[in-house]
Amino acid sequence: MGIFGSSTQHIPESVEVPRHIAIIMDGNGRWAKKRYMPRIAGHKRGVEMVREVIKACVARNVKYLTLFAFSSENWRRPEEEVNLLMDLFRFALEHEVSKLHKNQVKLKVIGDLSRFEPKLVQLIHASEHMTAGNNGLTLTIAANYGGRWDMLQAVTKMLTHHPELAGQALTEQHLEPYLSMHYAPEPDLFIRTGGEQRISNFLLWQLAYSELYFTPTLWPDFDAAALDMAITSFQQRERRFGRTSEQLHHVT
Ligand code: IPE
Ligand code: IPE
Ligand code: MG
Repeated sequence: MGIFGSSTQHIPESVEVPRHIAIIMDGNGRWAKKRYMPRIAGHKRGVEMVREVIKACVARNVKYLTLFAFSSENWRRPEEEVNLLMDLFRFALEHEVSKLHKNQVKLKVIGDLSRFEPKLVQLIHASEHMTAGNNGLTLTIAANYGGRWDMLQAVTKMLTHHPELAGQALTEQHLEPYLSMHYAPEPDLFIRTGGEQRISNFLLWQLAYSELYFTPTLWPDFDAAALDMAITSFQQRERRFGRTSEQLHHVT
């Protein structure tokens, strides 16, 4: 059994604040365009909002925050933008990780790191290592991440470790330890900024029962007050996990 069980069996205790928030930070380019600025200016401002949202999550006692920073499809962007995004990622790691560490944040990076420069990969591993013992917020950055990639790498790893499972009837619990986010409960609340209403190959497995929240607010405008609006929306929902409303209210 996985530590958190299956989303289809287990009802998390009704919590005031979501335990795990996952965000697709979208709209940086449009934010910059509206101001006649280059797209990278939007990405830079986006990093500032990451800082603000992390702070807000720590203050609200959110335990896990997962941010989609770069998708496996984002390599399709112009080379110049991809390079600038990589520089920004490296710069942010170099300058922010010690502050995260001081605030007891545990940093994790998920995604296919094999396409990144070795120096960036080293920096990622060093940052994870430095913060591994912290017990505050677990901050996960999804970089060169794709939900389909995640499932495929999990199946490959599972069969490498347990070749005897090939051809057997599998349960969710067989696969879960090999998924990138095995250390975290599934997201309670999924947020996408920037107005698009799609998942864009983010956490496909883990979003099965997450509450979805879409806002037209562009990521560089998504501040602590905007986060609170998303949390309030979450708090007004009834999570039934397949059951009826009556079943939830008449638990013996
Ligand atoms: C999200 O903002 C950041 C990344 C995908 C890296 P976008 O760059 O997608 O901004 P829009 O969608 O073009 O406005
Ligand atoms: C999703 O945003 C990925 C990240 C925010 C990192 P995109 O802007 O790349 O998504 P699409 O292409 O509009 O679906
Ligand atoms: Mg976009």
